[in-house]
Amino acid sequence: MRIEFFKHSVGQRDIDNVVRVLNSTFLTTGAEVAAFEERFAKYLECGHVVAVTSCTAALHLSLLAYGVGPRDEVITTPMTFIATANAIAHAGATPVFVDVEADSGLMDLSLVERAVTSRTKALLPVHLYGQMCDMQKLHTFAAAHGFYVIEDAAHAIEARRDGIRPGQVGDAACFSFYPTKSITSGEGGAVAVNSKEMAERLKKLRLHGMSKGAADRYSRRYEHWDMEMLGWKYNMDNIQAALLLNQMESLDEFQARREAICQRYETAFSGCPDIKCLKVVPTSARLMFTILVPPEIRDSVLWGLQERGVGVAVNYRAIHLLTYYRQTYGYKRGILPVAESIGDATVSLPVYPALTDEEVEYVIETVKDVVRKS
Ligand SMILES: Cc1ncc(COP(=O)(O)O)c(C=O)c1O
Repeated sequence: MRIEFFKHSVGQRDIDNVVRVLNSTFLTTGAEVAAFEERFAKYLECGHVVAVTSCTAALHLSLLAYGVGPRDEVITTPMTFIATANAIAHAGATPVFVDVEADSGLMDLSLVERAVTSRTKALLPVHLYGQMCDMQKLHTFAAAHGFYVIEDAAHAIEARRDGIRPGQVGDAACFSFYPTKSITSGEGGAVAVNSKEMAERLKKLRLHGMSKGAADRYSRRYEHWDMEMLGWKYNMDNIQAALLLNQMESLDEFQARREAICQRYETAFSGCPDIKCLKVVPTSARLMFTILVPPEIRDSVLWGLQERGVGVAVNYRAIHLLTYYRQTYGYKRGILPVAESIGDATVSLPVYPALTDEEVEYVIETVKDVVRKS
C-alpha cells in the first residue's frame, strides 16, 4: 500500500469553475476574488477579507499595515513553519521567540510577559495544527499594553475557542490556501480584519499601493489612478479565487472527516508507551496530526514509515535552531527547551478527507510496528 502524506480534495466542479474563468477575459483580481472575499468573511463571521497570494504575504502585509518595522520586536512561537517568523523579518522587525506548552505545542502565554521589551509592537500567535491559542487571554494582555495581535491561522480556518474564531478579536488573521491546507488554490492566502479602513489599506498594499486595481479600470470609464504608498505585488487572481469558491461549501464536511481520523489515531495509540499524542485544544480544525516518539528513534521511524509506503512530514523542528535564525539572532539549543523537545520527537501522519478507513488502519498498524522495531 502507498499512502500519500497529503492529497487535496479539488473536484470536478472546482475545475469547471476555473475553466469558466479561463474562458473569460478577466483573469487577474476581479469579480471572482471579490466573491471569494465576501464568502470567506461570511464563513469566518468577521468584517472583511483581503485575498492575497500566500499566507506569508498575508502575514507580511498585516505587519506592514499596522506599522511594524525596523527596531520593532514581534513576539511569536518557534513551533511553526518558518513563514511566520520570516514575515516578521521581511517587515524589518525582530522575531522574539517564546517557548510553547508541552501538552499542546501552542505558544505558552504565561511566558509572553517576560519577553516584552520597550520595542515590542505586536504578538504573532500561531493556531498550531488547527487548535486555537487562547485569544481572549491574549487580547486582554495585548490591549493592556497597546500591542497588535496578528494571528497565523494558516491551519485554523474552521477552529474556534471559547466561541471565538480567528480574526474576531485579533487585529488581523492570516490564512493559507497552500495544497496541504483545508482548501487550496495551489498557492494563495487571505487576511481577515474587522476594520474597513484596514481592509482598504491592505487592498492597496497588496497591489503596489495603487488607488485603483485593474478591475476598476476595466469595468468603468477610464480613470487615472494614484500610488499612495509603497506596496507589494501580492494580489490573488480570479483563477485562484474560482478554485476556492466551491471548496468553501465542503469546509465543515472536510473538517468532520479529519476529526474522525484524528480521533481514530488517538484511540489506537492510547496504549502505546512510545507513542504520545499531543493534547488537543477544542474546537480544533484538525488540520494535522502529529505523534511524539522517543527522539533517538524519530528519524528511523520517519524512514521506516516511508519504506512501508506511509507518507510522513515533520511539523516542525523548532525554527530558532535553523541556521539563519541561529546566525542572525544568536539563538542556541537549550533556550526554548519545550519547543526543541517537540521538534526532536514529532512525526506527522496523513490526515485528509480522501483518506479511507482501510488506509487509516494501515497507517496505525504500520506506525505501531515501526515504532516497536526502531
Ligand atoms: C503555520 C504556517 N504559517 C504560515 C504558512 C505559510 O503559508 P503559505 O505557504 O501560504 O505562505 C504555513 C504554510 O505551510 C504554515 O503552516
